[in-house]
Amino acid sequence: MKKIYLDIAATTPVDPKVATLMSQVMTQTFGNPSSIHKFGQESHSVIERARLQLATALSCEPGEIIFTGGGSESNNLVLQGILNSGDHIITSAYEHPAILNVIEALQTKGVESTLVNPNKDGVIDCLDVINAIQPNTKLISIMTVNNELGTINPIAKLGEISVENNILFHTDAVQMFGKLPMDLSEIHINFMSMSAHKLYGPKGVGALYIRQGNKLPAILHGGGQENDLRPGTENIPGIAGFGLAAELATENLPTNIENILELEKRFLNALTENSIEFTRHCTSHIPGLMNISFHDVLSKPLLMNLDMEGVAISAGSACASGTLKASKVLLQMGVSEKLASESVRISLGKLHTKDDVDSAIQKIIELITRLKITAEINA
Ligand SMILES: Cc1ncc(COP(=O)(O)O)c(C=O)c1O
Repeated sequence: MKKIYLDIAATTPVDPKVATLMSQVMTQTFGNPSSIHKFGQESHSVIERARLQLATALSCEPGEIIFTGGGSESNNLVLQGILNSGDHIITSAYEHPAILNVIEALQTKGVESTLVNPNKDGVIDCLDVINAIQPNTKLISIMTVNNELGTINPIAKLGEISVENNILFHTDAVQMFGKLPMDLSEIHINFMSMSAHKLYGPKGVGALYIRQGNKLPAILHGGGQENDLRPGTENIPGIAGFGLAAELATENLPTNIENILELEKRFLNALTENSIEFTRHCTSHIPGLMNISFHDVLSKPLLMNLDMEGVAISAGSACASGTLKASKVLLQMGVSEKLASESVRISLGKLHTKDDVDSAIQKIIELITRLKITAEINA
């Protein structure tokens, strides 16, 4: 049975070109980047090349990028580094746990927070953010793209609001980087988190953009690597892989977007042609991410049965999929409990083919028909 992975928003397979480079670096470039000798300098230059690749992809300076152990660590560096007792943060209610749980931990140390709900389109309304500003608001942290819905937040406008109000602005761009163009020379962001495994790079590697002139304290202490912010000998193959993944993603972005949108259309048309009743939540989203409620089919049996048929999709975000309740994010948007418990996330990416989509859709249609018949018999 051919396995079809339609969960690109959870993680991506490593691009074969990235894997080849990583394997070369792992076996050939093993010196400690902090060493003075040539072995060390070779490793050092691998890291600096990757830094340049990310900076080029984002139109920022290489010195504004530091490598971390992933998106979660980048988020922690910003929130833990900036917020002290008595400070206030504005964030959204549908951030990843790598933001919400950090805030929960910081609340025990006297940090205050306001969580803004998404509007009915799954987007954070700038007016809600403005209304939440307090004299002690030190940081606004709103994700660029939501991981469950794929909706895109008004990051440029939020940047302007933060400047006007003298507040720092962070965005968790883990779901955006590599999927949409981003020009940091044009918008005001103080800090931006990224992760390699969402753009066909390795897991356990991330980056943090720190706009020139901003400073963060370290939250771990040790050697002076990564501008004193990330102690420990660097993950050289991982960083090299991230650099190439970022370069490939940006170079081929227009083609990838076009192909993914084509596949998305094929998928949705097939549902309509086969009279499958569904609601696709939110009107505007990144290419390939579809949050769909199949009417009268609960997400859990659909997901589990599809998995047995070799098709992997998810319900809600990956980190919450161990507990399959009605999607909290959809409920926050005002979607009914019924539709929210029928919602699944199907995400397509650059390595998918028309055959993948056709095989998956055939299985989904068969399964939905079967689950509905079983439900009618048991009713
Ligand atoms: C929006 C968002 N932020 C942060 C993360 C965590 O990134 P990482 O797995 O690299 O720590 C994820 C991963 O699912 C995510 O979707």
